Amino acid sequence: MNKWFFINVIFLMFTWIKIITFYHGIHAIIGGTALTLILYNWTRHAVFSTIRSPNVSRQRKISLATLSKRVLPFHKWTGSLALVIAVIHIVFVLQSYGLQIRQFKQASGLLSVSTLILLVLFGWLRWYKTTVRRRYIHWTLGYIIICIIFLHVII
Ligand code: HEM
Ligand code: HEM
Repeated sequence: MNKWFFINVIFLMFTWIKIITFYHGIHAIIGGTALTLILYNWTRHAVFSTIRSPNVSRQRKISLATLSKRVLPFHKWTGSLALVIAVIHIVFVLQSYGLQIRQFKQASGLLSVSTLILLVLFGWLRWYKTTVRRRYIHWTLGYIIICIIFLHVII
C-alpha cells in the first residue's frame, strides 16, 4: 500500500467524523460529499505511484493496472460531479452565513473551488488531447487542491 492511500483514507475519515460530531447542517454534508468524490479521483494518483514503485510485486501492479483501467470511464464524471456538488455546497453556505470573504473558512473554500474549476477544465482538455504540459498541470492542481481543502476542513 502506498502512503497516499493512507493519507486519503485518514483525511476522509477525519472529515466525516468532524461533520457528524459537530453537526452544523446539510451544507457540511454536501461539502463532505464533494470532498469524497475529489478524494476518490485523487486516489488515482496513489494507484499510479504504487504501480511505478520498484518495491511492488509484478502481480500486484498488473491487478492495480487492470482495476485502474476498469474505473477510468467514471473518473471524468466523478470529477465533474464534484464541482457541481461543491457549487451546491457554496449556495447553501451563502444562504446560511452570507459572503464573509475575510473568514478563513470562506477564503480557503473559494481558493478550493477556483482550483477545482481549473482541475476539471484541464481534465477535459487532457481527455480531449493529452500533452505533457496538460498532464503535468492536471496532476499539480490535484496536489494543490488536496492541500487547500485540507486547510479548509481542519480550521
Ligand atoms: C472544492 C470546494 C469545497 C469543498 C470540497 C468544501 C468542503 C467542505 C467540507 C467537507 C466542510 C465540512 C467540514 C467542516 O465543517 O469543517 C465544509 C464546511 C464549510 N465550507 Fe466548504 N468546501 C468547498 C468550498 C467552499 C466555499 C467556496 C465556501 C465559501 C463560500 C465554503 C464555506 C464553508 C463554510 C463556511 C463551512 C463551515 C460550515 C459550518 O461549520 O457551519 N466552502 N466545506
Ligand atoms: C476532482 C477532480 C479530479 C482529480 C482530483 C483528478 C486527478 C487525477 C489524477 C491523480 C490522475 C492521474 C495523474 C497521473 O499520474 O498522470 C488523473 C488522470 C486523468 N484525469 Fe483527472 N482528476 C480530476 C478530474 C478530471 C476530470 C473532470 C477529467 C475530465 C475528462 C479528468 C481527466 C483525466 C484523464 C483523461 C486522465 C488520464 C487517465 C489515464 O491515463 O489514466 N480528470 N486525474
